[in-house]
Amino acid sequence: MALPIAILISGTGSNLRAILEAADAGRCDVNVRAVISDRESAKGLDLARERNIPTRVVKLKDFADRAQWDIALAQAVAEHAPSLVVLAGFMRVVGAAMITRFPGLIINVHPALLPLFPGTDGPLQAVRAGVRVSGCTVHVVDSGVDTGPIIAQAVVPVLPADDADRLHERIQQLEHRLLPAVIDGVARGRIELGSEVRVAERWFDPAATLVSPAIAAEGT
Ligand code: GRF
Repeated sequence: MALPIAILISGTGSNLRAILEAADAGRCDVNVRAVISDRESAKGLDLARERNIPTRVVKLKDFADRAQWDIALAQAVAEHAPSLVVLAGFMRVVGAAMITRFPGLIINVHPALLPLFPGTDGPLQAVRAGVRVSGCTVHVVDSGVDTGPIIAQAVVPVLPADDADRLHERIQQLEHRLLPAVIDGVARGRIELGSEVRVAERWFDPAATLVSPAIAAEGT
């Protein structure tokens, strides 16, 4: 049975689109039960509406404090009974209510190779640090900022002409493949989440191909 998931977004929703397209193509065995945002203006909400996926906006400013917002967010997500919660460009740190409601079952995609460059501006931090490779990380969300257990990573070169935007664009191309692949791995039982992350060895075969085509595309 397709894995019921909820997707949380704040912006464009290109990762949301990638998940939906992977699901259409049979590469991501999910049922997207809801798309929830902290911003009314998040473009990805339109994409969800076009597909008749239930949407909801839970804005921080509508609540007395962050803890109350977090409780409301957890409630809104729980109403859709997801087995997995995917932060796909959700630009706020989720709090204790979310984490206790969905223990080990919230994942996030981050545009850097964690534990390097957590927080905002991962690509800018990478360019400023002068690293020669960067990439994206899908990890379990814990109470820290981008600190939870790493599930999977994919790598891109940092090219001499890169600025943060160019690098981020290239990283996002990988995110669009890695995130649906990880979700599919969870759906098919090849990746086990919870108190500990376990990734079946066979899952690494498709993951390995994530690196070389990206490099080949840029290297010509
Ligand atoms: C992604 O690069 C993700 O890594 C970061 O926010 C960005 C969201 O992009 N957390 P989009 O809204 O999915 O296009």
